[in-house]
Amino acid sequence: MLNLVLFGPPGCGKGTQSARLVAAYNLIHLSTGDLLRSEIAHGTALGLEAKKLMDQGVLVPDEVVIGMINSKLEANKSAKGFIFDGFPRTIAQAEALDKLLAGKNTSIKAMLALDVEYDELVKRILHRGEDSGRSDDTDPVIIGKRIEEYNKKTAPLIEYYQKQNKYHRIIGKGTIEEIFAKLCNVIDSL
Ligand code: AP5
Ligand code: MG
Repeated sequence: MLNLVLFGPPGCGKGTQSARLVAAYNLIHLSTGDLLRSEIAHGTALGLEAKKLMDQGVLVPDEVVIGMINSKLEANKSAKGFIFDGFPRTIAQAEALDKLLAGKNTSIKAMLALDVEYDELVKRILHRGEDSGRSDDTDPVIIGKRIEEYNKKTAPLIEYYQKQNKYHRIIGKGTIEEIFAKLCNVIDSL
């Protein structure tokens, strides 16, 4: 199986590049942000709880997202591999993911980390917010909070995957096609 973590701060291009990578490598895209927004759209209890936190730009509890990922792994047992987008986001999530995959006799092959500077992230998210309908995309204070959460709780995962020799840094500035080509180069060299 080819299991990849597509990593990076809010607005770095995880969703954009995931869409291209799933098509090129025949993988399944698992975005916890998309899964949570689907819960919100369906008005579930989980969605209502998650929305309060997402609207503030803070992370939802680890158990919630780990549970969602577990059921998606179970539902796609014959998959060729997965792209994890926006998950894991804490050390606890990364450890849980390693355990879940080990239980299925597989593991993460690589972490592809998109590196984009702060001002560019805010610019991209505000631009998308003009028509995304995402309530966390329009207020610069909330966007700043999302980036702060990333720096505090999520960036430490770089070291977690570095220790496993799985960390690959990719400069995330440039055209979408240029960045996609760089990601493919790394994947093809694995
Ligand atoms: P989530 O949905 O994961 O959002 P995010 O990580 O904040 O990232 P985005 O989806 O905003 O950005 P992206 O990196 O996918 O970039 P995109 O490709 O869209 O999470 C939302 C919330 O859910 C969190 O705040 C949290 O509350 C909760 N949550 C989710 N997962 C969780 C977890 N595991 N644990 C706890 N809580 C969790 O690109 C952005 C824009 O830039 C687009 O408009 C795109 O067209 C444009 N763009 C892309 N590439 C380029 C380029 N090269 N040049 C110019 N523009 C570009
Ligand atoms: Mg996304």
